[in-house]
Amino acid sequence: MMKAIPRLTRFALCTLLVFSLAACGNQTGVPAGENGSESAGGDDDIVIGFSLDTLEEERWQRDRDLFVAKAEELGAEVLVQAANGDDAAQLAQVENMISQGIDVLVIVPHNAEAAAAAVEKAHAEGIKVISYDRLIRNADVDLYVSFDNVKVGELQAKAIVERVPKGRYVLIEGADTDNNAHLFKQGHLNVLKPLVEKGDIQIVYDQWTKEWAPENAMKNMENALTANNNQIDAVIAANDGTAGGVIQALAAQGLAGKIPVSGQDAELAACQRIVEGTQTMTVYKPVKRLAETVAELAIRLAKGETVQQLAGSVKGAKFATVNNGKIDVPSILLEPIAVTKENMVETVIKDGYHKLEDVYRNVPRDQWPKVQ
Ligand code: BGC
Repeated sequence: MMKAIPRLTRFALCTLLVFSLAACGNQTGVPAGENGSESAGGDDDIVIGFSLDTLEEERWQRDRDLFVAKAEELGAEVLVQAANGDDAAQLAQVENMISQGIDVLVIVPHNAEAAAAAVEKAHAEGIKVISYDRLIRNADVDLYVSFDNVKVGELQAKAIVERVPKGRYVLIEGADTDNNAHLFKQGHLNVLKPLVEKGDIQIVYDQWTKEWAPENAMKNMENALTANNNQIDAVIAANDGTAGGVIQALAAQGLAGKIPVSGQDAELAACQRIVEGTQTMTVYKPVKRLAETVAELAIRLAKGETVQQLAGSVKGAKFATVNNGKIDVPSILLEPIAVTKENMVETVIKDGYHKLEDVYRNVPRDQWPKVQ
């Protein structure tokens, strides 16, 4: 249900201008957006706060654009803020959105633990919270919508193990502060552990990547190479950004394209590296599906539907609970897809995520795949 108090805050300016509350809305015939206090629709519009950690990786810009487009198509208004990896900024932005009268909060937390404070602030105002892509830990999160992140890790490790069933492995994991990074690692170990126990695989270097930054991944990879006299057979990198850093470090040693490297996100640069041969695979997560699903669920949650009512309505997703250290969070997990050079066309390109001519830009035209 929508709340009266924040709504009043939104219209405080109108009240000051001695309009009656009713006159501030659309009942007076003032078209939406023209009275300076509403940008879309009428008084009954749902306002969603969308708080992102960062817009740095290509995917998050897509998440934002697709989310806003869908929410607006469904008649809601979205306030968007990105915190650039700053926990205090993310909390301040959420507080600001709460004071602007949001009806529901959707968060991509920078820091899984620190973001619990944002959930408390929202709940204190009766605002429900959806954890978007990344789980907030130790908080009463209302709903978590993401991909099956353990499976993402398994797909990465399986693709590399297929090429290097025995050998010396390096793990370049994600940011320790991101719960997803732990799930990806869990997936890696699910696949690798039995092979380590058998003695086929040795993990010779294993490191988190601070802030998921490619330059930190590059430094870690340089350290891994030095510590092992370049005797490395395979690298599991947790996403495409870190894979980029890893491949730069490998290139400096003349090893790019000789050592398999995984990734995730189907970023354009990564898809290009895949068809050019320096990256082995990526994991394509149809972000459109995630963004649009959450936009719809956020509106329904704000209108008073229960999580149980929402759960069954998302087709083709796994409905589960995921423990966040405090509660079992109701969760909707979408399917990730492993992408190599072989299925690039049927996945990323067919889905319209990237254009063939962009992915193959640096490949001679006579080597481009034939597309019907
Ligand atoms: C997301 C990945 C992303 C990474 C870095 C993770 O939580 O699931 O898609 O590459 O964060 O932003």
